[in-house]
Amino acid sequence: MKKPENHIFVIFGGRGDLAKRKIVPALYSLFVQDLLPERYAVLATGRSKVTDVAYQDEVKAAVDSFSEEKDKSRIKDFADTFRYIDLDPSINEAFSQLPTALASIRSLLGISGNTLFYFSVPPDLYTKISDHLALNGLNNESDGWKRMIIEKPYGHDFESATALNSKLLEKWGENQIYRIDHYLGKETVQNILVTRFSNGIFEPLWNRNYVHHVEITSAESLGVERRGAYYEGAGALRDMVQNHLLSLTGFVAMEPPSSLDSTPIRNEILKVFQSLRPIQTEDVQRVAIRGQYTGAHVRGEWIRGYREEEHVDPSSITETFAALKFYIDNWRWGGVPFYIRTGKRLPTRVTEAVIYFKQTPHTTFSQNSESGGYNQLIIRIQPDEGILLKFGMKVPGTGFNVRNVNMDFHYSDFASERIPMAYERLLYDCMNGDNTLYTRSDEVLAAWRFLDPVIKTWYNNHDIPVYGYPAGTWGPEKADELIEEPELTWRYTCKNLADDGVYCEL
Ligand code: BG6
Repeated sequence: MKKPENHIFVIFGGRGDLAKRKIVPALYSLFVQDLLPERYAVLATGRSKVTDVAYQDEVKAAVDSFSEEKDKSRIKDFADTFRYIDLDPSINEAFSQLPTALASIRSLLGISGNTLFYFSVPPDLYTKISDHLALNGLNNESDGWKRMIIEKPYGHDFESATALNSKLLEKWGENQIYRIDHYLGKETVQNILVTRFSNGIFEPLWNRNYVHHVEITSAESLGVERRGAYYEGAGALRDMVQNHLLSLTGFVAMEPPSSLDSTPIRNEILKVFQSLRPIQTEDVQRVAIRGQYTGAHVRGEWIRGYREEEHVDPSSITETFAALKFYIDNWRWGGVPFYIRTGKRLPTRVTEAVIYFKQTPHTTFSQNSESGGYNQLIIRIQPDEGILLKFGMKVPGTGFNVRNVNMDFHYSDFASERIPMAYERLLYDCMNGDNTLYTRSDEVLAAWRFLDPVIKTWYNNHDIPVYGYPAGTWGPEKADELIEEPELTWRYTCKNLADDGVYCEL
């Protein structure tokens, strides 16, 4: 793998949680693999005054606590590449020090103007920072490339995302803006493309003729932790569905791209989003279910409900669970229902895309009960990354009884291969100018456009229930009703315990 061009990596929000937990550990992983540039530096910024040395100690502590690298022997050398300046991004004048700070690092290292700005700050600062960088000439590529990485939330609905987009594009080019969706950096998400497009056995079946329905579940066992203030204004739909779950849908449903270049891949994902059948306001209650976790005992420990969490309104109706049924109106997927759901405080952490294939037209065998004869291909995104194929086999002995068996591949079988962290892959790509695994503005806007009717209806119509579900269960039972066929349910529910031991707590 090639080393990126020499550059300076600037972090706004250098002392924040994201920097410590994700950005710094990802940079360390690149460092130990020798995948950072020959000459580079990290310039972290933050509101508080901290010396370079004190900041470098924080970097060491972050690597120590959050890096998955076994080799921690190079922490000191790594931390030495960090510099810190105090820069409060809410104060306009604060930005004027930046060109000088960058220029002095550049002349010290003897590098050009290549600069990557990571916006690890609250979203209300995005336009402010981008404007002030531009005012100080730091969007100008005459002396080297300039790129920005922006975290979600990218707007909070279609209108605000459009406004944010227009504002950023006033001074920056689309190819300079890297909108991160860390799910796209996950190895198993990228593997969806390889599974689909490099295997003759799957691709011919991957359409309305053979697929009965598709399920995507992203479950978390944790609650909102310390992020109550952010989550109150977001909810599961904005936090997980608008970005991660729709991105996964894009990968599962897209047409084969003409090449692996960024534009063809992003074009195909965009086409999927543009083909999502719009959800009508009057249908929202039927096809979109929201829920909120309530206090319960989980594995012997009392888990408080969402409304009891810090910085959460005790009468909050923010959803911590969302499930949707929708269709993709194109030739490949016409008539195939897609079910997606996500929730916090579910029994376990698991993200999967499941393709349910249609049953054979007729069978004389006594059918196995657990899946009604639907073969399933399960793409396990996390944890225990892998692919599982479930199909019927004859139970040995008299008669013709059929039971599901598993053909199971685990990523851990690639014994010597370490699965890179999502941020590691994404930062490396951005440093190399590859935006394939970042979302383009039209994709983001199409995703918002699709969800807007649900967002607005949930906000405006308080008669639509927010179903409570006890922590440690698979969300509100109402979500089971989205799947209307009697013999089918979500792969994991409290009613239908899955055969691999993931169960309902209560
Ligand atoms: C983030 C959400 O984008 O993704 C969090 O803001 C969520 O609420 C997280 O917990 C889940 O990511 P992962 O990689 O742990 O599935």
